[in-house]
Amino acid sequence: MDRTLTPQFDDELKLLLEAIYLKYNYDFRRYAPASMKRTVVHALDRMGWNTLSELQEKVLQDTDCFYDLLQSLTIPVSEMFRDPSYFRALREKVFPHLKTYPSLKIWVAGCSTGEEAYSLAILLQEEDLLERTTLYATDINPRSLERAEKGVLSGEVLQKFTRNYQESGGKRPLADYYTAAVNSVKFVGTLKKNITFTDHSLVTDEVFAETQLISCRNVLIYFDRGLQDQVFGLFNASLCRKGFLGLGAQETIQFSKQAKHFDLFVKKDRIFQKKG
Ligand SMILES: C[S@@+](CC[C@H](N)C(=O)[O-])C[C@H]1O[C@@H](n2cnc3c(N)ncnc32)[C@H](O)[C@@H]1O
Repeated sequence: MDRTLTPQFDDELKLLLEAIYLKYNYDFRRYAPASMKRTVVHALDRMGWNTLSELQEKVLQDTDCFYDLLQSLTIPVSEMFRDPSYFRALREKVFPHLKTYPSLKIWVAGCSTGEEAYSLAILLQEEDLLERTTLYATDINPRSLERAEKGVLSGEVLQKFTRNYQESGGKRPLADYYTAAVNSVKFVGTLKKNITFTDHSLVTDEVFAETQLISCRNVLIYFDRGLQDQVFGLFNASLCRKGFLGLGAQETIQFSKQAKHFDLFVKKDRIFQKKG
């Protein structure tokens, strides 16, 4: 029998998430239960524990073990120009509006290891917007933020990223934006200059700036409906009048209580515009 289908597993999972919240102030209690169960089972196997209560005991005693578990819980997966049509839509449909602002604040919420923020910085540079933009890229995983800050990518993924960049309407060779080492590449400093990578939880932290664009992709799918509503409320509070919310193909605001504050702007790529 699937061990995640027992009431005991559900109870132990609740206790584990409660313990993590009390001890470390990371709040996973309202993440979507089905994906949380899959993630936790994967973590048990990867970390070599048989039961959730064993894992809980260890996590409470050992901070390193908690941060190891956090790598599983946060699913730190990203790509440069992930879903190229989203970036093409930003470039062709959203940026003409952004060009009317003398200065811009853009928030990449749940930025993982930085690929989405660097992709946006490249796009902004090519559209002559980077100089007037402050990009806030936030996440709850300190190891991901550390990697993002370094701006280093493995050389193995470059081929795919280059293809994504070209499909997104990239105007130059992607190689113009990095310097190559043996098995890795590092983004040039000009891209990083306007990006602030910082710790911020969509669950427990507040709005920190008025923004013209928020990009939050492949994050809200892990939250339950109530928590998604709360986060959409946060985005509504942060966006200026007529500001844009990019969710990407996986997510929508349409069934949320906050939907009434937004118009659908680009259907395929789920880009919404806050009403005036
Ligand atoms: C699958 S990655 C998506 C990365 C990137 N947005 C993309 O689409 O490629 C999900 C990210 O959301 C972050 N995340 C999860 N819960 C969060 C929260 N409460 N607040 C902020 N970020 C969170 C995770 O740490 C992870 O880096």
